[in-house]
Amino acid sequence: MSKAVNVAVIGTGVVGSAFMDQIIAMKSSITYNIVYVGESSSALISKDFSPLNLDSNWRKTLTDSSDKSLPLDDLVTHLKGSSLPVILVDNTSNAQVAATYTKLVENGISIATPNKKAFSSDLDTWNRLFSGKPGKGFVYHEATVGAGLPILAPLREFIQTGDEVEKIEGIFSGTLSYIFNEFSTSSQNDVKFSDVVKVAKQLGYTEPDPRDDLNGLDVARKVTIVARISGLQVKSVDSFPVQSLIPKPLESVASVDEFLAKLSEYDGDLSKLKEEAAKEGKVLRFIGKVDVPTNTVSVGIEKYDASHPFASLKGSDNVISIKTKRYTNPVIIQGAGAGADVTAAGVLGDVIKIAQRV
Ligand SMILES: NC(=O)c1ccc[n+]([C@@H]2O[C@H](COP(=O)([O-])OP(=O)(O)OC[C@H]3O[C@@H](n4cnc5c(N)ncnc54)[C@H](OP(=O)(O)O)[C@@H]3O)[C@@H](O)[C@H]2O)c1
Repeated sequence: MSKAVNVAVIGTGVVGSAFMDQIIAMKSSITYNIVYVGESSSALISKDFSPLNLDSNWRKTLTDSSDKSLPLDDLVTHLKGSSLPVILVDNTSNAQVAATYTKLVENGISIATPNKKAFSSDLDTWNRLFSGKPGKGFVYHEATVGAGLPILAPLREFIQTGDEVEKIEGIFSGTLSYIFNEFSTSSQNDVKFSDVVKVAKQLGYTEPDPRDDLNGLDVARKVTIVARISGLQVKSVDSFPVQSLIPKPLESVASVDEFLAKLSEYDGDLSKLKEEAAKEGKVLRFIGKVDVPTNTVSVGIEKYDASHPFASLKGSDNVISIKTKRYTNPVIIQGAGAGADVTAAGVLGDVIKIAQRV
């Protein structure tokens, strides 16, 4: 008989919808029984763990369902009753869902997720999730850094095979990649930072409030994750310097429109920095950095020579450079760092890896 696993999915937004499409269409020797699909309020629940009958019209089936999504504690209790191994796929960015991971894992339930919250919270949670004690569920979260790009799996493999990470440096935010690629080019330009932010918002590259990108916190969360995998005991996202691109007086401005209208008043400093860089033949980029030997982590603007791989980045790509004891010439991983299909594929890849291990 072929191997089978039960899959519970929370969140059917941008990534979750693409994930559902991909797992339903997937051909595999392992059987993936979808036994739960939940949004904030509605859900599809298989009470006896028989596979839900889902096809490409799964969205309509979910919309027509009269089931209410289970409170998280009840969901854990329900999933514990499965006779097959269970993989919970969290496609939300919800902190409460993330806060149930330790309980899930300690009850033998595995997790695949693009949600950064649990992995960038306190160090104790990280250590509990990855203690590797027998009988615990597995935790895979490739899509928390660089979306579908293979970053965390190779990084873990370098370390497992005895290599030592020395330095990780990268452009971890698609939004800030786009903004700086447009703002700071190797030849001098008159582009204003505030104008690029407005265009990025119009193109849908930013969060609804662009300050959620400009505060550097998203990059700090990702850098916390790669630093911890590399062996640094990073206590929390606020335990290292993070440069915010939000002018102090605009931090508390109530509306997004008012923030965008006033941002141009603060263009001067970044324009000056850009001009200085261009005179040295350099560009500005928004970088996350981990230096293992000196135990330092930081997030902020850096200058790079026009010949550096970070300088020639296009669009909203991510790029991550990993220098190790073996790879003295860094490994560079580059590509789309956001998008429904690539991110969902990263999550599905994790589901497959877990299914192969359980
Ligand atoms: N979009 C990307 O390109 C990308 C790239 C890399 C990583 N990610 C990560 O992927 C995750 C999902 O992103 P997204 O863009 O798909 O977000 P999204 O479109 O806002 O979708 C979030 C989904 O989560 C559901 N949800 C929220 N809280 C819930 C709860 N307590 N219980 C059940 N469902 C809940 C929402 O349901 P309701 O609508 O019913 O509230 C919605 O279906 C995030 O962690 C994000 O950081 C996204």
